[in-house]
This record gives sequence, C-alpha cells and structure tokens, in this order.
Amino acid sequence: MGEKSSINLSAPKWVVIQLLEQCNLRCKMCYEWGQEGTYHHKENLSQLDPKVVKRLILDLKDQKPYFGLFGGEPLMYPHIEEVLQLIRDYDCKVDIPTNGTLLEQRAEMLIKTKPTRLWISLDGPEEINDTQRGKGVYEKVTKGIHKLHELREIAQSEYPKIGVTFIVTPTNYQYIEEFFLHSINLNEIDHLSIEFQLFATEEKYQCYKEVMATEFDVTETPCGKGITWDINDFKQIDVPSVVAQITKVKEECEARGIYFIAYPKTITVENLTHFYNGQWDQMKDKRKHCAFPWSYAEVNARGNVTTCHTFYDLTHGNVNEQSILDIWRGESVNRFRKYIKKSLLPICTACSRYYSDPTKK
Ligand SMILES: C[S@@+](CC[C@H](N)C(=O)[O-])C[C@H]1O[C@@H](n2cnc3c(N)ncnc32)[C@H](O)[C@@H]1O
Ligand code: SF4
Repeated sequence: MGEKSSINLSAPKWVVIQLLEQCNLRCKMCYEWGQEGTYHHKENLSQLDPKVVKRLILDLKDQKPYFGLFGGEPLMYPHIEEVLQLIRDYDCKVDIPTNGTLLEQRAEMLIKTKPTRLWISLDGPEEINDTQRGKGVYEKVTKGIHKLHELREIAQSEYPKIGVTFIVTPTNYQYIEEFFLHSINLNEIDHLSIEFQLFATEEKYQCYKEVMATEFDVTETPCGKGITWDINDFKQIDVPSVVAQITKVKEECEARGIYFIAYPKTITVENLTHFYNGQWDQMKDKRKHCAFPWSYAEVNARGNVTTCHTFYDLTHGNVNEQSILDIWRGESVNRFRKYIKKSLLPICTACSRYYSDPTKK
C-alpha cells in the first residue's frame, strides 16, 4: 500500500468539534443540559482555546474532512467567525446544529462565511416548542430563520442551507404535523429532519458502566448517565399517530422538493413500537457494528478526542497536548477499534450516530 493511501486511511473523514459546553437554554429532553443532563450540575464549564481549534483545522486540512461545530450552543462561541472562515478557506464542508436563538444576531456573519448547513432545532408550534425549549424561543428562532433566508436571497447564495431538526418527545408527539404543515414557513427551509428522543434504560446504563470499568479502566461515566431515562416516560406516545403525521410531512416535503430525513429510518408502527419498548435488537436497520471509529473523530470542549458523538466518557488523548492525527493513529483508538469490532457497547442504541451518518444529513 502506498504512502498516500495509508495516510488517507489513518485520518478521520468527519470531525466534530465541540467548541464549548455552555448553552443558553435548558431543553427538557437534552442529554447535556436537561434536568438530568451531563452538564446540568457541573460547576466548571469548558470551551476550546481558539489557538487549539486553529491548529486542529490546520492538522487536518490536507485530508479535507467534513467538519461539524457542536456545543452546548456553537453560535455562543466567541471565535466562531474565525473558525468558520478558516474551515471555508481550506474548502472544507461544515455543518452546525444550533438552537437558533442567536441566528438573528449572527445572520450577516453566516452569510459571509457560508457554512454548508445549519441544523436549527425547533420542536413544535410556538407554545409546545417553548414548553420543551424555553419561553420566547420559538419567536426568536423563527425571526432568525426569516432574516437568514432573506439575506441569503439578497446575496444570491446557495449557502448556508437551512435545515430544521425536530426531536419527537412525550411533550410534542401530537404536534408534528401541525408544526410542519401549519406553523413554520416551509418556503424558508431546504432540509428537514425528524428524530426521536434517544434514551438508554438504567439496566443498559449499568451494563455500559461495567464494560467501561472492566475493559477500559473508565470509572466516571456522566455522559452515559445523561441519556438514561425511565422507559415509562415514553409509554403515553401514540405510535400510530406519530407514524401517520410523519408520513404526511414526508409527502409534503417530496411535493415541495425539501430534503427529508428521519431517524430511525424505518418509520413504521412496528419499528417505533420496538424503539419505545427498548427492544432495539428487534428494530429494522439494527447494526451489529459501528464503523465510526474508522472514519470519525470528535474533539470535546476539554480537548479530549473520542470516536463517539454522544458518549465522551472514553477518550483517547487530548489535542491540548498532542496532534489529532497522532491520537487518531494511536494505541488507545486502536484498542477501542479491536473491542468494537467484536461488540457494540450496551448503550450504543442511544447514540444518534447509531441511526445516522452526519455527512449525509
Ligand atoms: C445537544 S444539541 C447541541 C446543539 C444546539 N444547542 C441545538 O440545540 O441544536 C444537538 C441536537 O440534539 C438534540 N437532542 C437533545 N437531546 C436529545 C435526546 N435526548 N435525543 C435526541 N436528540 C437530542 C437537540 O434538540 C439538537 O437538535
Ligand atoms: S439548546 Fe441544544 S444543547 Fe442547549 S439545552 Fe437545548 S438541546 Fe441541549
């Protein structure tokens, strides 16, 4: 194998940078900032030094990965403009999931720096969204989308693409159709994603905790804990109604040429019933393996590198001390790859990457 291909194989194709842990909202279902979320009771919050972010991008630029900028709330990061500019200077693609509350303020900057895609979180018509995400949030976000769309038209620019992400929860499951077909202005939306609140059961979490301790010597597992919910919280969800509503939204998207995705992919009563019953092994599209450790890296706000989007409990090195490529090619990631080749972790079904490929969204 030639030198070039071995370098390509040993660099991640997708890299998500958690710029900061801080967030200005406290969404109820959030595994980071919800009532039982990982950061909710944490005293010292972190954000990445912009010099470290710059070095990270420079280290990776020849491989041209698809970047993601994550948080907390990424638009709160004080150096976001420099980071976006640098990524775009190297001609790399970049997606940003955002709660959208700062869109109105940051619209000009986003039109100038042209990230590939924004995924803006909205979880229902005004009253329902604000019950889940906070009072006044719906108005701020929809104003921000409107301004961004208007400026993009004036600039005659294709980017950023405007996507909306909706997370189905016990609070909003009755309002999917009303939201998409009667509340927001679909003329301003290019992409639409309907996803389900992910969760692990306490039993799965305990198994995960044990694997982390025995296989990897990791005894602190706050990220796994952050996504652990009582399965009974989901019992009230009317699955046939959810399926019927999503089907209508999908049809409307097809008619309008809006790119539509849903996770889990197979939206049928049978499949979603398995999901809410915690029978993940009976779901369609279930995975036996996770390929992300071979193609994906995530750097959290403390500089720690993982190959997992949701669980930062197991990390392999720190970009404040070492280059991302050395970490990516190092012994610790290799050991994890060997493990994951044999079996998934007990809570992999609570990770969004289990259901999705971020670059295809
Ligand atoms: C953690 S947030 C970070 C980015 C930004 N603050 C936002 O809200 O979009 C990323 C996405 O995860 C979603 N999310 C939060 N908790 C979730 C859960 N338990 N299951 C699935 N998605 C969740 C959010 O609604 C958002 O769309
Ligand atoms: S805005 Fe995003 S990170 Fe903040 S609490 Fe809501 S879902 Fe979590």
